[in-house]
Amino acid sequence: MRCEYLLFFLASSLFFGVISSSPVQRKLFGEIKSPNYPRPYPNNNVSNWDILVPKGYMVKLTFRLFDLEPSQSCFYDYVKITADKKNLGRYCGQVGSTTGNHPGIKEFVSKGNRMHLAFHSDFSNEDHGTVIPYKGFLAYYQAVDIDECASNNAAEEDERPLCQHFCHNYVSGYFCSCRHGYQLQSDKTAN
Ligand SMILES: *[C@@H]1O[C@H](CO)[C@@H](O)[C@H](O)[C@H]1NC(C)=O
Repeated sequence: MRCEYLLFFLASSLFFGVISSSPVQRKLFGEIKSPNYPRPYPNNNVSNWDILVPKGYMVKLTFRLFDLEPSQSCFYDYVKITADKKNLGRYCGQVGSTTGNHPGIKEFVSKGNRMHLAFHSDFSNEDHGTVIPYKGFLAYYQAVDIDECASNNAAEEDERPLCQHFCHNYVSGYFCSCRHGYQLQSDKTAN
């Protein structure tokens, strides 16, 4: 790793929060509830949540309660989770329901610092008298430190590792150091 880059990296983490001009709030944790929770969710509802945590962290999300109308392939009511442009699954159903796809205690983890939740309900949830209304969901998310050095140590031969010698992970970032007798240089080499 070059020295300029390291200094930039350290400086940007020192002033983190001050230079952040993003209008989206970056939080370290939070909860996401279906519309009207803990009361039954409304029909024909589409709701979206963008979870954004500070850079250098990834998002970990779990459901504390999940109770959506079960359907084959979660065709009707569902929660869809995406992160890093990847689909992490489409979920519906109740605890123990045979149809649907209940998330259970699954932990959803992003690689980057964003995750997206999309909720969709169709027209039939509150069919009073014949169907028990479903409660919806309650999810918690938290920011988890990314160990940048894990990828440094696992780098393929043709990939340039983040640090030439030693990589040190810290909360929300990392820094490089050199073997005894070497100095971190402004180019990519250690002398
Ligand atoms: C979904 O429900 C929420 C909470 O009741 C409401 O604010 C929102 O407008 C609804 N969206 C749609 C598309 O119905």
